[in-house]
Amino acid sequence: MLRKAGLGMITGDNPKNEGLTPFKCAEGADLFYNPCTMTTNDKTKSVKLGAVITGSARGIGAAIARKLAASGYGVSINYVSGEEKARRLVEEIEASGGRAFAHHADAGDYEQVKSLVEETSRRYGGIRIVVNNAGFSQHTTIDQMSVDDWNRAIAVNLSGAFYTVKAALPYMRELDWARIISICSLRAMTGSNHGAHYAAAKSGLIGLTKSLALELAPTITANAISPGYTNTDMNAAALAKNGDAIRAMIPAGRVAEPEEIAALAAFLASEEAGYITGETINANGGIYMR
Ligand SMILES: NC(=O)c1ccc[n+]([C@@H]2O[C@H](COP(=O)([O-])OP(=O)(O)OC[C@H]3O[C@@H](n4cnc5c(N)ncnc54)[C@H](OP(=O)(O)O)[C@@H]3O)[C@@H](O)[C@H]2O)c1
Repeated sequence: MLRKAGLGMITGDNPKNEGLTPFKCAEGADLFYNPCTMTTNDKTKSVKLGAVITGSARGIGAAIARKLAASGYGVSINYVSGEEKARRLVEEIEASGGRAFAHHADAGDYEQVKSLVEETSRRYGGIRIVVNNAGFSQHTTIDQMSVDDWNRAIAVNLSGAFYTVKAALPYMRELDWARIISICSLRAMTGSNHGAHYAAAKSGLIGLTKSLALELAPTITANAISPGYTNTDMNAAALAKNGDAIRAMIPAGRVAEPEEIAALAAFLASEEAGYITGETINANGGIYMR
């Protein structure tokens, strides 16, 4: 049976996660049971199932988590090194009336990613949204790059997306619609002269996105976003050193704010975006035209 809508009201307290909490879909089509720890206090909250966002304690991932939590999803705040930032973001989201939990998982390790996905579904009664955001870049030439450098970049930036989708698919297939969004990069299109592994992984995400779109249609869409320079830790050093030169290359005259990338992700995650699939949408201030 496909589960419709997803905006429901969870009431009551179930601190030990015992038994099943009745959950009524907003459209009234299906009544199902939500075996999750929905209630951290006595408040009644609306939820739209779960959204798994990898690498979401800071930067673009954190902005996407805030946005999806504000629209009603229970969100996973996934980190590897940023435990304190993850904890603070969970507090911020919960203080604004949203639902979030922090979870350590290395995107390059399937078993850890599976545990992130399963915990998200357990808490929020299913998974409607997957955002493959976890990523890192490394400034190194092909001559200097070790085999371990290459394998690690591919594991986190590309295999991590496959791992997350693989773990989440059984939950997403239960729903009448679901969304996969992968955060790609301008470097997938331009290549990189100091990060061939990163550019190759991001190019791979485009092929993965198109393949998922073909295989998972019509209920699940898969799209990618290719940001250009964005104001996060990832390129803070480059912006500090060469900020004026970088901004001069961008027709928009500035770098993106993470919230601008998050706004696009939130649209692609919405039910309204159901006719867009297999696309990679550029958000780079026009730099690719230069
Ligand atoms: N900033 C840009 O200009 C730009 C441009 C194009 C594409 N992107 C892409 O946008 C995405 C987000 O980057 P950002 O700019 O927000 O960078 P960021 O500020 O450096 O944040 C990177 C995030 O990824 C997480 N992460 C790194 N390795 C991980 C792993 N092995 N497992 C799980 N999470 C991991 C980090 O977790 P911790 O906090 O725990 O370390 C952090 O939350 C990346 O995929 C990046 O390639 C960024």
